[in-house]
Amino acid sequence: MTVTHERYAESALVSKDRYVSREWLGKEYERLWPNVWQMACRLEQIPNSGDFYEYQIGRQSILVVREDEDTIRAFHNACPHRATRICSGTGNTETELRCPFHGWAWNLDGSVLEIPDADDFAPESLSRKEIRLSPVHVGVWGGFVFVTTAEEPEPLLEFLGPVVDGLAPFEVDKMRLIRFRTTVMDCNWKVGLAAFNEAYHVEATHGWDLSGYASGRIPKLAERPDLRDAQGRTPGAYQFSYEAFETHNKMRNVPESYVASPTFGSLGDPKTIALQMIEMNRSIGLAHQDDVDYVDAMVDVPADVPSQVFMTDVRRKVGAAGGVDYSHLADEDMLSAIDYCVYPNLVGPISAGNWILFRFRPNGDDPDTCFFDVMFLHRFGDGETVPAVEHEFYPRWQDHDGWGPIIGQDLANMGHVQAGLHQTSFTGLRLNRQEMGVRNFEKFVDRHVLGA
Ligand code: FES
Ligand SMILES: [Fe+2]
Repeated sequence: MTVTHERYAESALVSKDRYVSREWLGKEYERLWPNVWQMACRLEQIPNSGDFYEYQIGRQSILVVREDEDTIRAFHNACPHRATRICSGTGNTETELRCPFHGWAWNLDGSVLEIPDADDFAPESLSRKEIRLSPVHVGVWGGFVFVTTAEEPEPLLEFLGPVVDGLAPFEVDKMRLIRFRTTVMDCNWKVGLAAFNEAYHVEATHGWDLSGYASGRIPKLAERPDLRDAQGRTPGAYQFSYEAFETHNKMRNVPESYVASPTFGSLGDPKTIALQMIEMNRSIGLAHQDDVDYVDAMVDVPADVPSQVFMTDVRRKVGAAGGVDYSHLADEDMLSAIDYCVYPNLVGPISAGNWILFRFRPNGDDPDTCFFDVMFLHRFGDGETVPAVEHEFYPRWQDHDGWGPIIGQDLANMGHVQAGLHQTSFTGLRLNRQEMGVRNFEKFVDRHVLGA
């Protein structure tokens, strides 16, 4: 069910305890996380039989295992003997899972393979059913492995709902992971998610277009009257549409903004703008041969065609030359981004061939910090080599300088939000229509945590 914008022009404050209270965090672990599908990893992170990936949420560790080409399994990561975590991190376990402590072993489907000195146990304590690995539900969509510890979950595709059809033209199953970074943010996981779940902040935080990147500074709002429309509205108001679905939500550049977008504003001809975009992508580790080819293909830049129309056309042609068909993507989705917020913890902009996907997870029992995972996904053309991905981990987000200017600006806000939430004078969030995704999201958090 899609809801209208109007419903979200609400005045009720969103309570702040959800972001700062240890008790609230404890209830999320109890009531929210066990009852949702969570994206654990990409299929390409476990390409071979015996590959495993450990996904952690709070104190829970879920072991995702590839049994064979077509079968992915997931288990609670605790040995039924004396609870030892069976596998940590990622790796390959060949044909069996074996506990390092006393050597109990299971087949990749979780059935018991070997119990050393089984005769020394009381027979009734070795019920085969109870000592098999405790299974966790697995679902695969778009090349992602999702898991849920719910006993009887709704099917994954039903849980994802409109996200499935909405993202179908982007063929995310054919994308591949090219960068994977994790860091610790100085904010609650929901504060981090919300920062990417609205476009109201974009003018003030990012200066909206590439001019900030080009000049190395964010222009003051007063210097950029051209960003506003005739009614004085910011781009977040006039350039985006917002939709809240049951559970998830989405923001998107409206088709009319395609030709008149300030994103492509005043920087000059398409080739100059494309070079800026590529430079910006490079700074976050996201520039590929097809992005570069795309600039090289701009041989005759017409004076009378809007930049983004010309660039879109070139992008499609370069894609087609590499065997990637972008003809089914809407024009306004080729270079600009759609942002889906997939409940409870995924959000990120997707455009032709690239998806920057952010995932937020709580950090232990600390409501004031969270894990921030960034996955860069890219659609490769024929014959291109997909690079191996090393997982990068930065214990503090400030210790890494490769976030790029735009994401870096978003991250810099988060600690200040968290600090302000603790101020006694602050009682709750006031949200506008452009922030309806945040309100919608928090309603579902309420539903899980409070049963509201
Ligand atoms: S704890 Fe795993 S075999 Fe003993
Ligand atoms: Fe942002």
